[in-house]
Amino acid sequence: MILNQINIGSLAIKTPVLLCPLAGITDVPYRAMVRSFGANLMYSEMISSMAITRNSTKTLKMAEISQEVPTGIQLAGSNLEILSEAAKIAEDLGACLIDINMGCPAKKVVNGIAGSAVMKDECLAGKIMETLVNSVKIPVTVKMRLGWDSANINAPTLAKIAESSGVSLVTVHGRTRQQFYSGESNWETVGSVVKNVSIPVIVNGDIIDLPSAKKALSISGASGIMVGRGTYGKPWLIKELSDNLSGLNTEFNLSNEKKLEVALMHYNLMIDYYGDVHGMKIARKHLSWYTKGLRNSAHLRATINVSEDINEVKDLIAECFHNDATNKADYEDEAINEYTNHNIKFSRPN
Ligand SMILES: Cc1cc2nc3c(=O)[nH]c(=O)nc-3n(C[C@H](O)[C@H](O)[C@H](O)COP(=O)(O)O)c2cc1C
Repeated sequence: MILNQINIGSLAIKTPVLLCPLAGITDVPYRAMVRSFGANLMYSEMISSMAITRNSTKTLKMAEISQEVPTGIQLAGSNLEILSEAAKIAEDLGACLIDINMGCPAKKVVNGIAGSAVMKDECLAGKIMETLVNSVKIPVTVKMRLGWDSANINAPTLAKIAESSGVSLVTVHGRTRQQFYSGESNWETVGSVVKNVSIPVIVNGDIIDLPSAKKALSISGASGIMVGRGTYGKPWLIKELSDNLSGLNTEFNLSNEKKLEVALMHYNLMIDYYGDVHGMKIARKHLSWYTKGLRNSAHLRATINVSEDINEVKDLIAECFHNDATNKADYEDEAINEYTNHNIKFSRPN
């Protein structure tokens, strides 16, 4: 399966494998890591339109854009004037596009009539899209869920409204708001959005590797994929999927040594960006993803989570990866002995 180029307004994306906006995750250091392997288009975390218009230093920092890879800024909100002003600021900051968040299920967001709550009011959704399209010269895209709940699946209708409002692309996460992250992403229903519009539709939800990417694409008929949680601890996944969906059969079997290098590079970026104290806290979840599944790493992770010493943490991460290599070799020897002694089949640990 090969992905074709899509055009998002004047922006050409050769292989549409996109990095999700993930609040609290796809920050500046995360995007730099994904970019270091290679990416086509990525998004900022959700940015409050109100906060960006108030010049919040924290928000402006979140919206920092590198021009190396086209990056869109995702805005949340429903006040037309504020959204319009926020979009202009985002455009000036160098965003390649503005994405409207119509998918966030969080109570504090939907209670302020933003995120997936906007899907409940198609008239308001249409006004938001039109306002933003008319506010900026860069393309406007929308990220939505299937609908508010299973009785109100209106993504196909909203995508149609998006298309007639001048929106250039729609991404659909195949869950309803009421599902939050439970159940499975319904790629088939994403397909009913694809059938309803002629602008590109991107399928999202539960894509974690090449087989799931191919399945999501063939079931939905979408023009591309967007991947979020699957990239945790694997900033190379976007490039791996993109290569393989563009016809290059690239193997991405990173050695433990290389993974350690990647984890440390990410750690250093977080410390540089957030400062020592905050950076170490932010880094904990990422380090636990990098070391997940490594043998005997649980107790090392527990120490990492309480350590206040940057160098101790680096040593502990290295220990996690080196322990794993040693233990794998031990395990292999044991398994080979078993095999030769009893002539049974064995499989290598992953
Ligand atoms: C921690 C977290 C933060 C998220 N933040 C955002 C966000 O800022 N904007 C957005 O549109 N979606 C956000 N999402 C939803 C994801 O972009 C994506 O739609 C969802 O995780 C399904 O894709 P995945 O299975 O590939 O992760 C978030 C999801 C998670 C788990």
